[in-house]
Amino acid sequence: MHLRQLRAGDRAPILAVVNDWWGGRQVASMLQRLFFDHFQDTSYVVEDGETIIAFLIGFVSQSRPGEAYIHFVGVHPEHRARGIGADLYRTFFDAARARGCHTARCITSPVNTGSIAFHTNMGFVAEPGDAESNGTPFASDYDGPGEHRVRFVKQL
Ligand SMILES: CC(C)(COP(=O)(O)OP(=O)(O)OC[C@H]1O[C@@H](n2cnc3c(N)ncnc32)[C@H](O)[C@@H]1OP(=O)(O)O)[C@@H](O)C(=O)NCCC(=O)NCCS
Repeated sequence: MHLRQLRAGDRAPILAVVNDWWGGRQVASMLQRLFFDHFQDTSYVVEDGETIIAFLIGFVSQSRPGEAYIHFVGVHPEHRARGIGADLYRTFFDAARARGCHTARCITSPVNTGSIAFHTNMGFVAEPGDAESNGTPFASDYDGPGEHRVRFVKQL
């Protein structure tokens, strides 16, 4: 297994598997080509041989100096709980710190309990919201009607 920076050519193989990795949830439309063309410096894949088994897409905010943002992270279901997600995050945190960032942010759905557990484990804290799910605050309609989101933040 090895971790490397994202390339434009990684989009097709990732799109081919990502909905399955999310248990059938249609998430591929959130992985537009622009992420693969313009955010390679701070985005990564993990390969097992020639096969991509995990990826992270993140970037440094243009509008908020000192802030970095993780757009997407996914690990092949058969490779979860082995520290791969944590490795990707640590690599991203290092890259963000090297670019002067002091804060990392990301969002996740309040129903994605696995993601909430993972991010909490990685040191993220949920920002206050207008509602709560199993003790985790979230912002209602954050990404549009019915699109509630937990807003995670971590000091780097
Ligand atoms: C969330 C995800 C990226 C985690 O990747 P992973 O490689 O399995 O995570 P790791 O093995 O590095 O786990 C790091 C820590 O988080 C914890 N963790 C990870 N997933 C967890 C889960 N579902 N439930 C509870 N704890 C979890 C681990 O126990 C581990 O803690 P430890 O260091 O004390 O053992 C992966 O489960 C995934 O791809 N999920 C589907 C996609 C998704 O929801 N992405 C996030 C929203 S964009």
